[in-house]
Amino acid sequence: MMEVVREREPVDLLDFGCGAGHFLDYLRQSDREVRYRGLDLSARFVDLCRRKYPGVAFDCVDVMEPGAAVPEADYIVMNGVFTERCGVDYETMFEAVTGLLRTVFPHARKGIAFNLMSKHVDWEREDLFHVPYDRISRFVIGQLSRHHLIRADYGLYEYTVYVYKAAA
Ligand SMILES: C[S@@+](CC[C@H](N)C(=O)[O-])C[C@H]1O[C@@H](n2cnc3c(N)ncnc32)[C@H](O)[C@@H]1O
Repeated sequence: MMEVVREREPVDLLDFGCGAGHFLDYLRQSDREVRYRGLDLSARFVDLCRRKYPGVAFDCVDVMEPGAAVPEADYIVMNGVFTERCGVDYETMFEAVTGLLRTVFPHARKGIAFNLMSKHVDWEREDLFHVPYDRISRFVIGQLSRHHLIRADYGLYEYTVYVYKAAA
């Protein structure tokens, strides 16, 4: 996820769907300097994060709600937010994911990263959301930005999509 950041200087980063804040633990152990902010719709996760990381900003927001405020950041990462389908019909899930990405992308000054389950697997799990590269690319290029990168070289049965406002 951190590979989305193109520069070495400190940047503002929004961890969208931050869960228990594990990405912040990773950042604190790395040599990257980031002004971190977390956001989750779950009040339990946000309360937990506020206790675990005093002084760090966490917002409890469901961005699918009309009028929800999404904080601005240079980069927005969404790790594991779209990988599970949990019984939601495939096309309904695709509409929800792409709708959320359309809502979030304008709030990133530079770019976003999100991951999806791959179609190139030995078998697909019914409860997960496997999306063909072509289908997500068509959406990204048509509705977000043509400056994008798909990465699937890190050994998991998923891939990460990086989408930028400008060319590298
Ligand atoms: C599988 S967890 C991943 C947590 C964390 N990013 C990580 O990698 O450890 C997905 C998180 O996304 C949050 N989430 C899902 N949909 C959301 C939405 N529409 N707005 C805000 N958070 C959302 C969930 O509450 C959950 O905490």
